[in-house]
Amino acid sequence: MKGIILAGGSGTRLYPLTKSVSKQLQSIYDKPMIYYPLSVLMLAGIQDILIITTPYDQKSFQKQLGTGEDFGITLHYAIQEEPKGLAQAFTIGEEFIGDDACAMVLGDNIFYGNGFVEMLQNAKRNAEEGKATNFGYEVHDPNRFGIMELDENKNILSVEEKPLHPKSNFAITGLYFYPSGVSQKAHLVKPSPRGELEITTLNDFYLQENNLKAELLGGGFSWFDAGTFESKLEAENFIYSVQKNRGKVIACLEQIAFDKGWIDLESLRKSAELMKKNSYGQYLQKVVEKNLIKK
Ligand code: DAU
Repeated sequence: MKGIILAGGSGTRLYPLTKSVSKQLQSIYDKPMIYYPLSVLMLAGIQDILIITTPYDQKSFQKQLGTGEDFGITLHYAIQEEPKGLAQAFTIGEEFIGDDACAMVLGDNIFYGNGFVEMLQNAKRNAEEGKATNFGYEVHDPNRFGIMELDENKNILSVEEKPLHPKSNFAITGLYFYPSGVSQKAHLVKPSPRGELEITTLNDFYLQENNLKAELLGGGFSWFDAGTFESKLEAENFIYSVQKNRGKVIACLEQIAFDKGWIDLESLRKSAELMKKNSYGQYLQKVVEKNLIKK
């Protein structure tokens, strides 16, 4: 299975912050924002990942993440010339995706909660069976999001982009799984009245074929779309306090890669050494020590 992180967009909602540095490279507490969505794809077991950015920002992403070797993954880069909509990711990524199934996560989306890995596995299985998956999260301001309407058995009845009169409070989060053939479908998406190639239109194609499934991120789960000053700050405060209370680093890419057997202890040790002056590196050092004892 392939993975895409969509990390373009104009970023004007975070001006002046984003005048020279892309939103998705800004910090969420102790690491760049893009680490969080990248960790989601890695937790889903995806190692082949395309990062789509603006032409201006591509170099900075490459400098930050490189080939992916440190994380035991292969990173590819592509450019979106203009922010024409989320569904365009699948036509830009057409060659990269080939005949595979593909997951996409938005570069400013942060997920944290119980049972997430199992939900990712379910979505992967759905994709192998020809079905797409959207992840729902209950919000108090449904006009701001794509919305899924559900029946009592949690089947999706409709999907709508930022509806004036939302049929439910379940936002469609920025994480999507699709079966093989998604690029061909994405070519059929026509611009919406606001001029964008909407991901919701693509999701609706799957719904009309009875091939759209929902995974619901329940109570106790946290989801942030860190695209405004307020939500970015909220996400940072959240990550800071969870990490402090639990003594664990969220979205620690080196640790995920090591747990999956994608990098060895020596590679983990090197990353720890490089960052030993801060809490991220010291945490990695602890992981190294624990695994030395196990040996
Ligand atoms: O965050 C979840 C929501 O994301 C969904 O509920 C909506 O259905 C979906 O349309 C999207 O809504 P937003 O209003 O948040 O989309 P926005 O235009 O802010 O773009 C989301 C991210 O994707 C943002 O970080 C910028 C990036 N982007 C956006 C567009 C339109 C691109 O990289 N390229 C684009 O063409």
